[in-house]
Amino acid sequence: MIDFKYKVIDLLKEQIEFLDEDEIKLLLEVPPSYDMGDYAFPTFRLAKEFKKSPSIIAEELAGALSGNDYFEKIESSASYVNFFIDKQKLMETVLDEIKIKKDKYGSSDLGEGKTVIVEFSSPNIAKPFHIGHIRTTVIGNSLKKIYKFSGYNTIAINHLGDYGTQFGMLISAFKKWGHREVIESNPIQELLKLYVRFNSETEEDPALKDEARYWFKELENKNAEALELWQWMRDISLKEFNRVYDLLNIEFDSFAGESFYSDKMPRVIKELEEKGLLIESNGAQIVDLEAYGMPPALIRKSDGSTLYTTRDIAAAIYRKEHYDFYKNIYVVASQQNLHFKSWMKVVELMGYDWAIDCIHVPFGMVSLEDGTLSTRKGRVVFLEDVLNKAIESTRKIIDERNPNLENKEEIAEQVGIGAVIFQELFNQRIKDYVFNWDRTLSFEGETGPYVQYTHARATSLLEKGDFDINDKVQYSLLNNEEEINICRLLYNFPRIIYDSCDKNEPYFITRHIVEIAKEFNKYYNSTSIIVEDEELKKARLSLVYATKTVIKTGLELLGIKAPSRM
Ligand code: ARG
Repeated sequence: MIDFKYKVIDLLKEQIEFLDEDEIKLLLEVPPSYDMGDYAFPTFRLAKEFKKSPSIIAEELAGALSGNDYFEKIESSASYVNFFIDKQKLMETVLDEIKIKKDKYGSSDLGEGKTVIVEFSSPNIAKPFHIGHIRTTVIGNSLKKIYKFSGYNTIAINHLGDYGTQFGMLISAFKKWGHREVIESNPIQELLKLYVRFNSETEEDPALKDEARYWFKELENKNAEALELWQWMRDISLKEFNRVYDLLNIEFDSFAGESFYSDKMPRVIKELEEKGLLIESNGAQIVDLEAYGMPPALIRKSDGSTLYTTRDIAAAIYRKEHYDFYKNIYVVASQQNLHFKSWMKVVELMGYDWAIDCIHVPFGMVSLEDGTLSTRKGRVVFLEDVLNKAIESTRKIIDERNPNLENKEEIAEQVGIGAVIFQELFNQRIKDYVFNWDRTLSFEGETGPYVQYTHARATSLLEKGDFDINDKVQYSLLNNEEEINICRLLYNFPRIIYDSCDKNEPYFITRHIVEIAKEFNKYYNSTSIIVEDEELKKARLSLVYATKTVIKTGLELLGIKAPSRM
């Protein structure tokens, strides 16, 4: 595909000897609207060397550059040189490229030979998998897909919270009050009940705390009874979680959670000791981070048990040795900013230069309109229930609008789930937001169903018009404003993917495919596509094909299905 930006740079390079490619690239701007051109080059920076006013330089440059194959117009305006891409060339290069690359359009080999770990979701065993977990789960899944599409080898890790003192509590509680059959009939709710009861009884009887500590130590010592109970709780919880992953179509390469590192921690502690980083503080062992403006990192408690931080350090070292990652990404809520800063600092102090390749990708909070988000108070909204409710509401909408639709059940699932994911990925991840049912499930405006519907509409046009990808097309027939606007958006798609990978921001893609869908629907409403004139029809259908292909790829990168009908 022609890279018009580089064409601009090449042209300017010939005229301005004292600026190199990178300097020109940095100066180039994209004007706020297309009637000012596709690229604009400001000339202020040249005034000193040329000893002329910026506006005269712009005028002279524009004069020297006119008459070029790739640009229909190169003109000066005040102190800028504006470049207008040749629409014909643009249409041809974009549509041909999409026809050749199909669902690979926008992919690259940027990451060839490099491994990126994306750690995401990571719920805690025996605790509810609730609406608060949705963000890490869908942002992480999308990032994994974006990296893969950009040529990286990706490893998706679910760092399950399957270790720690809470298991001491659960084991004690189970031994006192638990019954297997009851728990197995409704694992998470029942385990949560035990946990809540244990916590409240501890308030009356503080000795229970020691008991819990004892059982966690026993677990670390590999006591058979403790181990069996822990394994059982992990298995039944994971079974629950997997239902949600199935609904969301998410797969992990590894479920190595916190427990996986239990035998890898003595080495870390020894290493910290040898490197002179570990100090004693009230019987516990810590790494002092005062010099970096942070509270100390707690490595080992006075009773000898290890902590969340210790496990993260061990996990990072293990991952480097095992996967030799290029980047090790953690999609975890911004509440844990300090935790990540702190242990990453410890890894750096240990002398590991790859500490800077460990990247915390934080995100803001999600709340419900009626404010019912609080695990501690037991007011939990299960993610599975939200997803099922989305599917059910979609089913109702389909029954009203399109009762004879084939595969209704499957499509209700794809649209309902897609709607939830889409809303999740619609905003910059760091922003807090309020989950809203009506907005999520609307078929209008900036929603998942709207984009999916546009895809289905495009698909049915291609079928109706007997689109053949091998037809020769006269691209010169595509010249109205909507056609050109769609084409520009399609042209920018690869860059959007690059940016979303570079910034770990799936929402660039979400916004972009919404724009494509809006522009396409405008076109659809103003222009008949299946027309008598065969040549015109072929040309228009090839634009429809390109649009449909890019929307589908975009949705897929977000983790959303694109049904052909809905
Ligand atoms: N299980 C933790 C929680 O639910 C999240 C784990 C984040 N990942 C990590 N490597 N610390 O809060």
